[in-house]
Amino acid sequence: MSSFKEIIDLNNLPQHIAIIMDGNGRWAKEQGYDRIFGHQNGVISVRETTEAAAEIGIKYLTLYAFSTENWSRPQSEVDALMELLIDTIEKETPTLNKNNVRLMAIGDLTRLPGNAGVKLQRCILETSQNDGLALVLALSYSSRWEITNAVKNICKEVIEGKCNIDDINSEMVSNHLTTKSIPDPELMIRTSGEERISNFLLWQIAYTELYFTQTHWPAFRKENFYEAIYEFQQRERRFGK
Ligand code: FPP
Repeated sequence: MSSFKEIIDLNNLPQHIAIIMDGNGRWAKEQGYDRIFGHQNGVISVRETTEAAAEIGIKYLTLYAFSTENWSRPQSEVDALMELLIDTIEKETPTLNKNNVRLMAIGDLTRLPGNAGVKLQRCILETSQNDGLALVLALSYSSRWEITNAVKNICKEVIEGKCNIDDINSEMVSNHLTTKSIPDPELMIRTSGEERISNFLLWQIAYTELYFTQTHWPAFRKENFYEAIYEFQQRERRFGK
């Protein structure tokens, strides 16, 4: 069989793909290892998927790397995940630059421990001139946190007389989200068989196509990514019309 990469229509690509990377723990357990081993291998899938997206000219790739709810995991796992995330970001900065990839982050970044936030901001700054793929990491992110924040900020603007209640419309809400400079995703992928959204980009996915695969995140490779895009291209999008 030919590769999905060869049969996807490069003139009809989603410009933004979001991924809920799930199944690291289950994948590791199936191999007889601990959960951290799954996260470590998940990094390889992040690299593969980023490369796959850049190769065909996807504009935005958003990865759900750490949710607000993930703070409630055992401290040892939270620490290991944070270290892995930040170490990876730091190590991969030259490769991101070489491939013209710009790093962005969404979420409550003030909650990141120690110098994690500083290292993250450094990578964001060092890649900010790149105009190829934008790799958006959702870190300490949840939609309800994001929407609640937007509501608070809009209320403040009304109280300060900067806008009127009747000025509030869906564009204004979008502009108060952490994704304000990013178009809504056309495709959202979730790995590992669960078919739910888990507090990810709830506002932004109003018209997004959802794609679920049984493949665990550490086993997800370029071909799985291209298959999701191919499947997306077979669907008819009507936007409620
Ligand atoms: C879900 O698997 C995965 C996560 C909570 C974290 C994802 C993190 C990585 C892939 C690490 C590297 C990321 C970057 C961006 C460098 P799970 O632990 O919920 O698995 P389970 O559902 O099988 O328990």
